[in-house]
Amino acid sequence: MKRLAVFASGRGSNFQAILEHIHNGLISATVGLCVTNNPQAGVIGIAEANGIPVKICLPKDFPDSHAFNETILNALIDSEIDFIILAGYLKLIGRQIVDRYSNKIINIHPALLPAFGGKGMYGHHVHDAVYQRGVKLSGATVHLVNNEYDAGPIVLQKAVSIEDAQSGEEIARRVLEIEHEIFPQAVKLLVDNRLEVNGSRVTILKEKK
Ligand code: GRF
Repeated sequence: MKRLAVFASGRGSNFQAILEHIHNGLISATVGLCVTNNPQAGVIGIAEANGIPVKICLPKDFPDSHAFNETILNALIDSEIDFIILAGYLKLIGRQIVDRYSNKIINIHPALLPAFGGKGMYGHHVHDAVYQRGVKLSGATVHLVNNEYDAGPIVLQKAVSIEDAQSGEEIARRVLEIEHEIFPQAVKLLVDNRLEVNGSRVTILKEKK
């Protein structure tokens, strides 16, 4: 059984969606660790309710970002983690983690990348910018993680019409529904080894019978 680490900084609805798909058998994996940089994060309660160990790591408790990332990397290795799932984690993943888990880290972004991504584009900032710009479609993107915010190869995307949306919050609600749909699908593809990466392009391999 493959072992996942879920990194999250907030309420954890995507974490919950992934756990549901593990429980109903869609994803053949187990969550061996939850990593957060926020001691108040909702994900802590979700992890505890599911018997998943939690590692709370605050950057301010470390001399520099190398030491911070090294501590997380050691926890991943100790927990024998195969894949990392970023479910609303608001910190850039350190180079040593990206190198060690090359093409084994995925992130969900609440917009159609490469639009409305990059540093500072998270949470309501994304949806407010989408609303202000007046685009007719938004959606969610799952991508592999490299050393730049929101720039790794795209795995899955799904769009939703927001033509009649009246606020950023309304867009966020519509997009979240899509996130809960495509993120577990992407986790399954990753765990089942069905992602073939060539440069920026990801090909989804057919299911092995
Ligand atoms: C989601 O909108 C996700 O796309 C973004 O952060 C949010 C996390 O929400 N990266 P939740 O904690 O999973 O409910």
